[in-house]
Order: sequence, then C-alpha cells, then structure tokens
Amino acid sequence: MPRIAVTVDGIRYEEDVEPRLLLVHLLRDRLGKTGTPVGCDTSNCGACTVMLDGKSVKSCSVLAVQADGSDVVTIEGLATAGTMHPMQRAFHEEHALQCGYCTPGMVMAAIDLLREDPDPSEETIRHGLEGNLCRCTGYCNIVRAVRRGAQSMGQAVTTP
Ligand code: FES
Ligand code: FES
Repeated sequence: MPRIAVTVDGIRYEEDVEPRLLLVHLLRDRLGKTGTPVGCDTSNCGACTVMLDGKSVKSCSVLAVQADGSDVVTIEGLATAGTMHPMQRAFHEEHALQCGYCTPGMVMAAIDLLREDPDPSEETIRHGLEGNLCRCTGYCNIVRAVRRGAQSMGQAVTTP
C-alpha cells in the first residue's frame, strides 16, 4: 500500500492508503474531517469541495494518492482562533443555507472564485458556482453571501 504525506488544515498526516481510496474518504473516514460531506459521489454536487494546494477541487474526484505532498484545507480549517472566516460569516449573516449540506462546498468554491475575481458580479458568482448544487435555497441568498464575503475579504484579505 502506498504511504502518503498530506497536510490537512495545518496538520501533517502520514497514511498508508489503497490506491483507489478517494480523497474525501481519507478526509472523512481516516482523519475525521466529517465537515466535508459526500452528496453524490459522482462529481456532480460539489458538496465535497476542498482546497488542494490553494485551488478548489471536488474531493470525491481526487484519489488520496494524488494529494501526496499537498496541502489540503477543508471547511474545518477556515476559522482562525475561533473566529469564522469572512465567507463563513457572510453565509451566516445572509441566511445562505437551509439544510446546510451544500454549504461547506459552497463556501470553499466561493473563496476560490474570489482568487480570480475579488469583486465578482452576480453573473460571475452564478457561473462560478455552477458546479455546486443546492437543493434548498434557490441560490439568491448564496449569491448575496458571496458578494458580502467578497466585500469583507477585500477589507480583511484572508484567503486561505
Ligand atoms: S460528493 Fe463530490 S461532487 Fe458530490
Ligand atoms: S442548503 Fe440544503 S442543499 Fe443547500
């Protein structure tokens, strides 16, 4: 079994993994990072989105061995010293969730979106989040939250 080393939310782990193990299962089942949910397992919903070396990926479409030597940030690694990341706070303040199942992936994808466009229009946000499905909210508050998060991040500059 290959042995991999991966840093997740600032902690380095060394794990023996089967070559077919998906990153999302490494995170959830081996490292206890259950804040990253599995919504579909077919790369459709985006609920499992995490940052891999600074870029958002659907962790159900990445093998754990592909993350060897990489830095992974999950929704659980965003808060610092008990303070929510500005994008998490924006989702909270704009009521951008109902069941919350899509929210970790939405937040991670939104942060990645701002890397390319720190001040995105509604159209850019809707296009940028196309890979993340929400069954509950109708997306309006999510778009508002990303705008609000972008504004506060523009002031705070706290991209992971
Ligand atoms: S669980 Fe990964 S995209 Fe749905
Ligand atoms: S809040 Fe329920 S799926 Fe988005």
